[in-house]
Amino acid sequence: MLDHYGRRITYLRLSVTELCNLRCRYCMPEDGVCKKQHEEMLTREETVCAVRACAALGIRKLRITGGEPLVKAGIVDLCRECAAVDGIEEVCLTTNGTLLPKLAAGLRDAGVSRLNISLDTLQPEKFHYITRIGDLRDALGGIEAALQAGFEKVKINSVLIGGFNDDEIADLAELTRRYPVDVRFIELMPMYDSGDFGPDAFIPYTVVTDQLSELEPVPADGGVAKLYRLPGALGNVGLISPVSAHFCAACNRIRITADGKIKPCLHSSDEISIKGQDYAGMLETIRSAILAKPQWHGELSYTERSHAARNMNQIGG
Ligand code: GTP
Ligand code: 5AD
Ligand code: SF4
Repeated sequence: MLDHYGRRITYLRLSVTELCNLRCRYCMPEDGVCKKQHEEMLTREETVCAVRACAALGIRKLRITGGEPLVKAGIVDLCRECAAVDGIEEVCLTTNGTLLPKLAAGLRDAGVSRLNISLDTLQPEKFHYITRIGDLRDALGGIEAALQAGFEKVKINSVLIGGFNDDEIADLAELTRRYPVDVRFIELMPMYDSGDFGPDAFIPYTVVTDQLSELEPVPADGGVAKLYRLPGALGNVGLISPVSAHFCAACNRIRITADGKIKPCLHSSDEISIKGQDYAGMLETIRSAILAKPQWHGELSYTERSHAARNMNQIGG
């Protein structure tokens, strides 16, 4: 359906858990999340019911997110159920990759067609630093497993952080010449309490085009990234600029959090609950949430932080 500003809403980002086996500094606090009561979260039946209601309202693309969606028990079967919903044409999933060696083949078989995998650095100590607890070998093993499982597309997401990984832009982009993957650099978004990054950490996507003079523009794929390619590469380099050049005018998405809140916009504090509702109730709530989608999310910067009253792990990106 169309929202109040004429944008066609066809994309649902569905977070299935706030929990994660990593603790990325830009995403969640060091002590993890305060585990919510089981009863506060959407049940599996409610989750699938919400996907059905969204599909009836015109959602065609579903992206499963978290937290880390692969820590959720029964995730493969949940993906299978979602992929079978009438109207859903594509099920994608965003993951930190570490559990893919176990799960990639099952997810592919369940109908997940594309995977986006987070990877901010290729250096083991820096990976451990940014994730607070992670081991780079697990993430790289996950990318290998994804490639072996034959997904239609694998994209690597690297959050650009000044003073942390801006010296690795060329190395990360080089992955597109070694593997059939897209590498996307994402501007760091200033969330509610996501880390103690200083102003210099917030660097614009143009540092990538400044550093990689060989990049040639290529047509967009319908996503939010501006796309480029290195000569001889197997995949694209993408630039996602939510801070320096927002893409709200073309926004086609809504979000549902693991605790059953519709978020019409990533950076707004507006949340509308569907917890406990039946199909008819969800249909009406989701319809009104789409109509309540704001025109844009307002200025974002080191000093103008996101209005979302949650960290990224509680939204799903
Ligand atoms: P594709 O389906 O491959 O286009 O994936 P995607 O880019 O929609 O999803 P992904 O989960 O890989 O997100 C990549 C980055 O884009 C993350 O940092 C998200 O937080 C960010 N992002 C996704 N949607 C939005 C949005 O509507 N607004 C803003 N500001 N950022 C977004
Ligand atoms: N700014 C930009 N991207 C972020 N992600 C998580 N937190 C932030 C943030 N503060 C990214 C993750 C993942 C995607 C869903 O969102 O790296 O790839
Ligand atoms: Fe976990 Fe992803 Fe957040 Fe990192 S960015 S802590 S991997 S949910």
